[in-house]
Amino acid sequence: MSSSNPLRDPADRRLPRIAGPSGLVIFGVTGDLSRKKLMPAVYDLANRGLLPPGFSLVGFARREWADEDFAQEVHDAVKEHARTPFREEVWQQLIQGMRFVQGTFDDDDAFERLRETIGELDKAQGTGGNFAFYLSVPPSSFPVVIQQLKKHGLADQSNGSWRRAVIEKPFGHNLASAEELNAIVHEVFAPDQVFRIDHYLGKETVQNILALRFANQMFEPIWNRSYVDHVQITMAEDIGIGGRAGYYDGIGAARDVIQNHLLQLMALTAMEEPSSFDADALAAEKTKVLGAVKLPKDLGANTVRGQYAAGWQGGEKAVGYLQEDGIDPKSKTDTYAAIKLEVDNRRWAGVPFYLRTGKRLGRRVTEIAVVFQRAPHSPFDHTATEELGQNAIVFRVQPDEGITVRFGSKVPGTSMEIRDVSMDFAYGESFTESSPEAYERLILDVLLGDSNLFPRTEEVELSWKILDPIEEYWDRHGKPAQYPSGTWGPVEADEMLERDGRSWRRP
Ligand SMILES: NC(=O)c1ccc[n+]([C@@H]2O[C@H](COP(=O)([O-])OP(=O)(O)OC[C@H]3O[C@@H](n4cnc5c(N)ncnc54)[C@H](OP(=O)(O)O)[C@@H]3O)[C@@H](O)[C@H]2O)c1
Repeated sequence: MSSSNPLRDPADRRLPRIAGPSGLVIFGVTGDLSRKKLMPAVYDLANRGLLPPGFSLVGFARREWADEDFAQEVHDAVKEHARTPFREEVWQQLIQGMRFVQGTFDDDDAFERLRETIGELDKAQGTGGNFAFYLSVPPSSFPVVIQQLKKHGLADQSNGSWRRAVIEKPFGHNLASAEELNAIVHEVFAPDQVFRIDHYLGKETVQNILALRFANQMFEPIWNRSYVDHVQITMAEDIGIGGRAGYYDGIGAARDVIQNHLLQLMALTAMEEPSSFDADALAAEKTKVLGAVKLPKDLGANTVRGQYAAGWQGGEKAVGYLQEDGIDPKSKTDTYAAIKLEVDNRRWAGVPFYLRTGKRLGRRVTEIAVVFQRAPHSPFDHTATEELGQNAIVFRVQPDEGITVRFGSKVPGTSMEIRDVSMDFAYGESFTESSPEAYERLILDVLLGDSNLFPRTEEVELSWKILDPIEEYWDRHGKPAQYPSGTWGPVEADEMLERDGRSWRRP
């Protein structure tokens, strides 16, 4: 860096970060995730000028497709799902590096063809041997794909090139299976070659938790047990399981959402300030929080699981979970889960973190609400503040991304009456540029080798350590409580908070 020209500082994080020579191989490229998110994200990155000129995209799947058929599929997926407008010149450049390899995951010949294809692309497109392998495949196939990459020399980094593995969720089914999978992965790839996807971390609003907390002075002094009453982290969906019965049944809401997304959100909300914004420092602080999580002694009173029953959703009749196609009518899988946790350290001792998620709830919304204690003393009459709630700072993760601050304000008029009002920051109003999709950010980070936004081995294993005793308790005790579709979950979840003198927010 030249000190006389600070605008040229290569470490300036405001400059667009453009990936160097590289390519991406997507296993399971015919699947739902690839079509809706991955292929469009690759195009959006190309359209924003963030991919190198010779960038290559290789699809691997069972179908008998030629390269042209694959390109047509990508084209259709991009037209339907891309965030940015379609531009023919971008597409024409991208298509130069598109190849398709047909085969199953146990097919050695197919992996040899993949190796040859990569070699050809290195020559034709200048990818320099740098390839990321995205495992967008059923979790049961993670091990075989990893082992095939090793067997066919595809994980080898030689002559200064890099190879990286991107692994979708769920990462294991419990602690034991996560440890087993980590062992398989790390036999082939070093820790810095592995990128575990938790797409929530790619969302702007989630990264903004750190910006709000650590770039400002006014929030952090009150971010502790002296001022915070409790924290509520919610991910609510209004849809049911759709066509994903095979994936969902036996997994359920807690494993699908709490183990990864909600515990990561909790870690970002509760962690100490990292010494820098680099991957090691961030992971160290998140790991400390997850390691300090304390489960309630009475899991019966402080956890609730539910299952949606028939009801009304968006003006339409909805069937119950047990009546969905492909679901065992005796299934005990949770479609709703709520748990109370504590973080056993000086900053948070005694502050409950309530985490909940569910399908077919009142509204699609993800938010983190930090709810503050009431003022220790009030000079106003009791009647003046009767309708005043508790102050809160709410991170709105989706759908209307932003931050809300709730506080009391005088109602206009001759008498003194104080009611809750909101002060809102909305991304859409404050910034002209729309937020990139999480997968755009994460794929770019993989190509750049930037692992800030990817949970590490320890984080995944600690998260399972938190959830395993709850799942085991649920296995031994009864069935999920039923809740009508379109409501905010089982009454047992409301009772759980009422016992603590609190109530769930109705976002
Ligand atoms: N869909 C989502 O919204 C979503 C969200 C978060 C995470 N994920 C995760 O992302 C991954 C992919 O999910 P998905 O919904 O895209 O799954 P999917 O629609 O079932 O697609 C699976 C893909 O794997 C291929 N495949 C399966 N077995 C194979 C084999 N033996 N040999 C070769 N190819 C095989 C399928 O190819 P064929 O077409 O030939 O069958 C298909 O391309 C999973 O780990 C999932 O948990 C998905």
